[in-house]
Amino acid sequence: MISPEAEGGSGGFTLRRARSQDVDAIFALVNLMAAGELMLPRSKYRIVSALASYFVAVDPQDQVMGCGSCAVLWTDLAEICALAVRHDWQRKGVGSALVGALMEEARRMGIPRIITLTYRIDFFVRLGFSIEDKDAFPRKLWRECLECPKLEQCDETALYKDL
Ligand SMILES: CC(C)(COP(=O)(O)OP(=O)(O)OC[C@H]1O[C@@H](n2cnc3c(N)ncnc32)[C@H](O)[C@@H]1OP(=O)(O)O)[C@@H](O)C(=O)NCCC(=O)NCCS
Repeated sequence: MISPEAEGGSGGFTLRRARSQDVDAIFALVNLMAAGELMLPRSKYRIVSALASYFVAVDPQDQVMGCGSCAVLWTDLAEICALAVRHDWQRKGVGSALVGALMEEARRMGIPRIITLTYRIDFFVRLGFSIEDKDAFPRKLWRECLECPKLEQCDETALYKDL
């Protein structure tokens, strides 16, 4: 299990909590993926507001090449948001490690279940997530959705994992 507090890692990357100096890199990474319609775009303000929920993966030069956020939706539910890994670092275990850190963060807060909305179903299933009917979660909890132009035509899949 990966501890979010752990500075250090394997495979040439390190996971750590995000710092204010990381905001520009997180903003660039998330919006690069959003340009490819792989995730929703995010404003810098939105990233700054939720910075305490972000973890980053950094290379040996401390350059951010992966990020993800553990958003608390309710007392018993967290959501994995803004998960992205730079293309040249994909398929090296960075995304899985970030998901591990975000789950650990939810556990640390005593939250028993974590969900995500994604196009990458297989990736999350491999990490032990199960597909869930989106309607099983109260719409008001899907903060992401309220800002999404697709709202009622959502084509992402909801997955959950008990922690
Ligand atoms: C989804 C995403 C975060 C995954 O990041 P990643 O760092 O490539 O993830 P991992 O390396 O941990 O796993 C990816 C795949 O590589 C495989 N893999 C892991 N380590 C590997 C290694 N050392 N060598 C080869 N393959 C490996 C995994 O088995 C996994 O396979 P799967 O996708 O079939 O499950 C990344 O592809 C991404 O940023 N995509 C665009 C944004 C996006 O879709 N975000 C998710 C929205 S919720």
